[in-house]
Amino acid sequence: MNKFIFTQALGSGVWQLTIQREAALNALSIQLLEELKSKLEAIAKDESIRVLIVRGSGEKAFVAGADILEMQNMTRSEAARFSRLGHEVCLLLEQMPKVTIAAVHGFALGGGMELALACDFILGSEKAQFGLPEVSLGVIPGFGGTIRLQRVVGGAIAKQLVFSGERIKAVEARDLGLIRQVIPQEGFFDYVGAVALKIAKHSLGAVIAAKKLMNEFEESVGIHPKVDAEVHRFSSLFEGSDQREGMAAFSEKRPPRFKGLN
Ligand code: HXC
Repeated sequence: MNKFIFTQALGSGVWQLTIQREAALNALSIQLLEELKSKLEAIAKDESIRVLIVRGSGEKAFVAGADILEMQNMTRSEAARFSRLGHEVCLLLEQMPKVTIAAVHGFALGGGMELALACDFILGSEKAQFGLPEVSLGVIPGFGGTIRLQRVVGGAIAKQLVFSGERIKAVEARDLGLIRQVIPQEGFFDYVGAVALKIAKHSLGAVIAAKKLMNEFEESVGIHPKVDAEVHRFSSLFEGSDQREGMAAFSEKRPPRFKGLN
């Protein structure tokens, strides 16, 4: 029985997966990621599913990141396992023979933005906000953000966003090519359903051939060495003091006092 992940058939092969942990703005805990992983494994094998919409529940957030309170006291090897688990989830989304759509109607931050980036594309409402604020916590993106953001917006802009940890609103996300258009909040999920349905009506074989080709073309070097490098660099930061300080500051609702070079 899943506590955090709910799926619903919307008809014609379109399914919706909702991440439901509203009290923590749908933050990704280990348990939540494990549930998400096993649900995605089942979806990947289910021939009746053609298009998967991924969304967060509640008014405010798609997903506000990995669970900071849970990460706060992780050891380096626990952090590496956690990063690897998030990567597994993201690779499932990216590689499954289905179309995956992230429907972002609020905050998509840190691991939440990384999850959205692992989907084939993102639809964003006017209230969507994106950001990779990990450096403000003394760490770096660890679910593929350093790899996938760069693909979409290019190296220099991705670096500016990762180094500044800044949040951007829907209009800027559109200008950067992260989303195609800004959709009104009211009726947003109906719009998402209509986009999914339009895709589901086409030949799944043709759509998935295109998905595979476009992923392979982009990934001529292969994503796995990059994943290993990100897991390594993310987890190594758990041996310094800035990660503890950054995450303690978040839980104590105060600004961090970083020492500098970790
Ligand atoms: C744990 C979180 C959380 C998170 C929010 N909450 N984000 N808990 N992990 N990522 C909790 C808050 O502690 C709070 O709990 C409740 O959700 C509501 O959040 P508020 O902060 O009160 O809401 P608001 O003032 O509206 O601010 C929204 C927000 C802020 C701007 C999104 O919550 C925020 O900055 N969250 C953290 C965003 C972030 O840094 N994400 C990246 C995480 S690192 P209480 O109990 O106080 O009500 C990451 C690494 C990925 O994702 C890679 C890992 C390998």
